[in-house]
Amino acid sequence: MYYSEEIVEEVRMRNDIVDVVSGYVKLQKKGSSYWGLCPFHNEKSPSFSVSDTRQMYHCFGCGAGGNVFTFLMKYENYSFPEAVRALAERAGVALPEPEYSEEARRRENRRARLLEVCKEAATYFYFMLRSPQGTTGLQYLKKRELTDETMKKFGLGYAGKNGAQLVEYLRKKGFEDQLIKEAGLANFSERHGLLSQFWNRVMFPIQDINHRVIGFGGRVMGEGEPKYLNSPETPIFDKRRNLYGLNFARRAGSGNLILCEGYMDVIAMHQAGFTQAVASLGTAFTSEQASLLRRYTDNVLLAYDSDGAGVKAALRGIGILREAGLTARVIDMRPYKDPDEFMKNLGKEAFGERIAKAENSFFFEIRIMEAGYDMEDPESKTRFHREIARKLCEFKEEVERENYLQAVAEKYHIGTEQLRRLVLSAAVATGGAEPARRPRTTASRKSSPEEGAKKSQRLLITWITDEPSLYEKIKGYITPEDFTEELYRKVAEKLFLDLEKGELRPAGIISMFEEENDQREAAALFNTSLPKLETKQEKEKAFHDIVFSVKKNSYEYYTARLGADMTALNQVIAGKKALEELAKTHISLD
Ligand code: UTP
Ligand code: MN
Repeated sequence: MYYSEEIVEEVRMRNDIVDVVSGYVKLQKKGSSYWGLCPFHNEKSPSFSVSDTRQMYHCFGCGAGGNVFTFLMKYENYSFPEAVRALAERAGVALPEPEYSEEARRRENRRARLLEVCKEAATYFYFMLRSPQGTTGLQYLKKRELTDETMKKFGLGYAGKNGAQLVEYLRKKGFEDQLIKEAGLANFSERHGLLSQFWNRVMFPIQDINHRVIGFGGRVMGEGEPKYLNSPETPIFDKRRNLYGLNFARRAGSGNLILCEGYMDVIAMHQAGFTQAVASLGTAFTSEQASLLRRYTDNVLLAYDSDGAGVKAALRGIGILREAGLTARVIDMRPYKDPDEFMKNLGKEAFGERIAKAENSFFFEIRIMEAGYDMEDPESKTRFHREIARKLCEFKEEVERENYLQAVAEKYHIGTEQLRRLVLSAAVATGGAEPARRPRTTASRKSSPEEGAKKSQRLLITWITDEPSLYEKIKGYITPEDFTEELYRKVAEKLFLDLEKGELRPAGIISMFEEENDQREAAALFNTSLPKLETKQEKEKAFHDIVFSVKKNSYEYYTARLGADMTALNQVIAGKKALEELAKTHISLD
């Protein structure tokens, strides 16, 4: 643990989870919880709940869950201590110097050091651009009509004439070679030692949503290959989960976000006042990035290049955005190639008009498709109509499908009845008007005996948390050791300890774990869906079954370990006795 349990708990209690989450997700009170669209997976109706009383969140859709720290770790991509610090600051809690464990210190240090070295490199590039050595870089950026203010906002820089300079500078600042390499800033070469691959390029620092430099893109000035050289992936630079410009765009407040292809597009658009522009990082747009966008908007505009490659990328992007539950529209840049070129020629007002006129992604897809068919040829035309019908089948909601059907029928002069029939036969051919659902990967896992045992353990913990008075009734039979999963046992130990003291703070228990995955799993222990039962007898039976099954599993578990484990014998003896007693005991839920 980096900070003492007490201080972590104080920070947690001073940050109401409903308040904190409300800053990110629109929540509505329904019953005893607050509900909203889950920021961690793609959905159209809210299954994300935040509990005021429990100070936890849980998504019934994707299973995400945790306390206020988990939320920030996941949302802001923070480590545990970073989340503690952010929330301490938010609530005005003064933190002592952290207590690091050896391993934790290493891991946390590594990340922090990587961020530091990237920041220092960005500073180096930045000042280099403004130094006599950077004249060519500065001239290049000026020629591209970037203002000083824009260059400053994006921290643009210049990598000196040779790759040894940066390395020298970073060494002088106290960074070891290994770290410089791990940050993706240089590589070892047999002949020259450590050299940066970034030289004689204008540099675009890539920042995460919290403005921390995590990598770089470097552009040649003029012609040359590769046009952009990007940092490799590193422990802090995940290209699938970051977007260029999002650190500014998330606060644009424009009601939409504009996704474009390149760094220069983003910069040109921000300079023109379209501060909602973002771009992927020299790699294809990913579903993780779509989820990231969805935290801020459900309305995405595509400003991809108007050439063949751009159209292809746009079609791909539309699919990913749609899958993520986002509405996509496509900005028509023709006759120019990209936003940068468009605005240089027609100005930002004209670009604003194109935004307003952006084409619905469905019609965009149909229009692109149309180009592949010959409308003069009845055969080809029919295939085109069938293709439209097939695409219409992708709309799951009937109303939506019908609306699109009518609109597209009118636009392409197809009889609505005729098109409806085509949709029907397309639906039959593909097995329904819905796209095939992905097989549920958890289904097979759920049925294993081991999963069953874990499920009972989870149920028991959730039930006790819901009705703490039950603890007194089971403590004679169940001990933390009966939770055969290590993480479960840790949770049970703490929970039982708290209950002995007459306390109940499940959200606090979650902070025992530093890894987001562990926190999520711990949170799941408090959020298992209890069986919905009507009568008291049914409930008592269900509860008894759960207690019995936890004990029985534990008995079998330790029996299998007899001889190998000293505690096993005790567990087995005590377990046998408890099971016999339980078999003839009625546990009342009153
Ligand atoms: P573009 O070639 O369209 O570049 O590539 P651009 O952003 O419009 O830049 P300018 O205006 O020509 O200077 C789009 C994006 O693809 C990635 C970069 O992220 C770039 O911004 N890319 C492109 C690379 O990573 N490497 C390359 O060699 C080329
Ligand atoms: Mn471009």
